[in-house]
Amino acid sequence: MNSIKIFAPATVANVSCGFDALGFAINTVGDEMILTKTSNKGIEISKIEGAELTFDSAKNAASVVSLAMLEKANADFGIDMQLFKKVKPGSGLGSSASSAAGAAFATNELLGKPFTNLELTEFARLGEEIACGSPIADNVAAAIYGGFILIKSYEPLEIVKLPVPNELWVAVIHPQIEVKTEDARNVLKPTVTIADAVKQSANLAGLVSGLYTDDYQLISRSLVDVIAEPYRKELIPYFENVKQAGLEHGALGIGISGSGPSIFGLCKGEENATKVVKAMEKVYQNSTIEFNIYVSKVNTKGVQII
Ligand code: HSE
Repeated sequence: MNSIKIFAPATVANVSCGFDALGFAINTVGDEMILTKTSNKGIEISKIEGAELTFDSAKNAASVVSLAMLEKANADFGIDMQLFKKVKPGSGLGSSASSAAGAAFATNELLGKPFTNLELTEFARLGEEIACGSPIADNVAAAIYGGFILIKSYEPLEIVKLPVPNELWVAVIHPQIEVKTEDARNVLKPTVTIADAVKQSANLAGLVSGLYTDDYQLISRSLVDVIAEPYRKELIPYFENVKQAGLEHGALGIGISGSGPSIFGLCKGEENATKVVKAMEKVYQNSTIEFNIYVSKVNTKGVQII
């Protein structure tokens, strides 16, 4: 294989009760990338469309991943990289993660697939570190594995792929303001009370149990975040109004997607997700803030060759 074109899905991390531990991929938006082998070693980024990102291969979230992989595999070739960014940086939809995960997947294919998904996630974390200062794994793992993933442990990295109930849909609204992950992490408190730790872990267990048993009502009761949302919602204009509107229209739960500003609603069925996204968009229609909306089934495939 000399060249590969891939789709790397956008992702929703945290999923309310799973801060830094849960994520899932979505179908309707994702980056596209073309990677082509070159005889010159190293990575050259020849095209970036859709976002203002660095062409410096030592600093770009996609190329650092490929560089590390080529080095580890002792590759005798280099890569020309073209990025077509559809997931906007600072959206809370795993923008750097889709580039990093896409680079990991595509480079592995060009190398003849020497690395496992777990290893690809480790490489992709290098892109997250470059992009937001922390090697967070929830978005990159969701993009690589597809479906719902749980980061069971960071050191050593352990990922559990969770089942996705068949009627689970997501409604997403992305208000067009930028929230940097680093800033959204800085508003969090460094410690949590025992009472909040108990609530959060019980809700995470409830959500995971609901995914295994297709229990939509248990999923709904578990989509509560007492660790990040109370602080981060201040960074997102009209968050409470959007949440209320979504819940009133039957969403199982509404929360901040990753570090925001995108807001997601998990829903049972496409019809409900469409109703929920319409209710969410009405809130921003009455403001001066522009927005994009997405309705999607949970993506169970992860990065795909296209
Ligand atoms: N889990 C990370 C956070 C995701 O919430 O900061 C970053 O998109």
